[in-house]
Amino acid sequence: MESRCGAHHRASERESVVVTSHNTDDFISIHTDDAVSVMRGMESDSVNLVIADPPYNLGKDYGNNNDNRDFDAYLCFTRDWLSEAKRLLTPQGTLYVFMGVRFISYLFDTLERELGMYFNSWICWHYTQGLGRTRGFSPRHDDILMFTKSRQFHFYLDDVRVPQKYYRARNNMRGANPGDVWQFSHVHYCNENRQPHPTQKPEGLIERMVLASSRENDVVLDPFLGSGTTARVCQQLNRRCVGIEMNPEFVAQTWSRLAAPFEGFDSVDDRLARIPKDLNDTVRQQYISNHRQWFLKNNPRLRQRFEARLALAYPNDNTDVKKDVKNED
Ligand SMILES: C[S@@+](CC[C@H](N)C(=O)[O-])C[C@H]1O[C@@H](n2cnc3c(N)ncnc32)[C@H](O)[C@@H]1O
Repeated sequence: MESRCGAHHRASERESVVVTSHNTDDFISIHTDDAVSVMRGMESDSVNLVIADPPYNLGKDYGNNNDNRDFDAYLCFTRDWLSEAKRLLTPQGTLYVFMGVRFISYLFDTLERELGMYFNSWICWHYTQGLGRTRGFSPRHDDILMFTKSRQFHFYLDDVRVPQKYYRARNNMRGANPGDVWQFSHVHYCNENRQPHPTQKPEGLIERMVLASSRENDVVLDPFLGSGTTARVCQQLNRRCVGIEMNPEFVAQTWSRLAAPFEGFDSVDDRLARIPKDLNDTVRQQYISNHRQWFLKNNPRLRQRFEARLALAYPNDNTDVKKDVKNED
């Protein structure tokens, strides 16, 4: 399909390199190439979930000039890759796109009015540290738009619920919907999982999208793979991942990241470790055993935090709960 925006996305002149992982049952394949070129070569209706964190056009250094287009060229680029993403999605498929404030309104317009996709959620990724401004308010969020290809999309709420704050008969004690404001800190330079990439995203954010909108063995496409966060999450959650990234250095980083031992995702929603203070003797043991199974199974790093909170909340517990904690360790 010819771009409506001229020749911004002719097939790359470099040779396209595709490498498929062997140690993960060929579940991960990564193309070192331009996103639109690769997407054009993929089969329609073949992807269950697209997670896209494109360059925001803010002049970041990704080892090329791609984050510094003029305004209209950036909108054309956006339209080009989004229309491919829509074509590739299955009718039940979902698209998540990260974006900063400068272009978010244009992105929304393209998705809804130009491409006719279905709006589902406007997610605010809230972080607590960042640049300080003196004339205006310091930015503390990025946005993520969630659109679906049709109204018959898949959504697995139980897989992303968070623990309730209080134990109440009228609450759904399977957990609450996590809402559309997601707090995760950036992956700081002192975090052992920090990669040499300027805009690495927290794994916890991607984990939630993957769990909410795909099942095991489904195909997840990340057209702007960067340091490989989506590939790492898919590897751990048994999804097939197709990643595309122009910069070969970032692709190499991703392969090393995938080969490293896994010790838990580098960021988690702290609410997953919270424990209601009002669990009476009758329900407490069952609640705690459910909590471990539902909320902690993908997050070994949260276990200690959860157990510490448990001991604080119920210091005089009649050991049943504590015995249970020990047995599972
Ligand atoms: C915002 S970063 C993605 C970061 C990623 N989510 C992570 O957690 O590391 C965008 C990435 O897209 C890559 N990129 C820019 N233009 C591209 C294009 N046309 N095709 C493929 N990759 C591109 C950049 O090199 C950069 O690594």
